[in-house]
Amino acid sequence: MELTLPLLQEKLKAWKGCPLHETANAVLGEGNAHAKVLFIGEAPGEQENRLGRPFVGPAGKFLDELLGSIGLRREDVYISNVVKYRPPANRDPTDEEKAQCMPWLQLEIALIKPKVIVPLGRHALGHFFPKLSISVAHGTPQKLTDEVTVFPIYHPAAALHNGNLRQSLFDDFKALDNFLQSTTPPTP
Ligand code: URA
Repeated sequence: MELTLPLLQEKLKAWKGCPLHETANAVLGEGNAHAKVLFIGEAPGEQENRLGRPFVGPAGKFLDELLGSIGLRREDVYISNVVKYRPPANRDPTDEEKAQCMPWLQLEIALIKPKVIVPLGRHALGHFFPKLSISVAHGTPQKLTDEVTVFPIYHPAAALHNGNLRQSLFDDFKALDNFLQSTTPPTP
């Protein structure tokens, strides 16, 4: 049977390969199955766990605002997370939890085939470039393969705790927009 995003969703719900499934609901990514841009956060929070959807709490509201600032809607992109369950009390996911959940993200990437991957924060960036620091790499494109560029940006939740990062996030989204325009062939 051909693997599709809805089928992946079903399979994830039945999966027991990460102990976090004992205390939380599975949250797969969502959005446009043909998106050029894939955003990757850390792990679901309280509201995401409740509703079974990524980035629908306060960080998600800010992400929507950032997307809107460059003329994008959630339906235009795909939004996912490294870890598919909320860690207890929103603690950082462990290396083991990240590794256990990684095959799901890899399947999402394989199905969507994005041209640009935007890691939101250090957990997602660390998967692609373990030696890069988000404070240095944010806002600058990093070549992953001939076809795929990684464009790291701070996690939107970071700006909810540190107001100084708010403008930095808007600036990085503007830089992402410029990058996307520069890589989109002009329409004849
Ligand atoms: N933070 C994340 O990293 N992911 C979500 O889905 C929500 C908040």
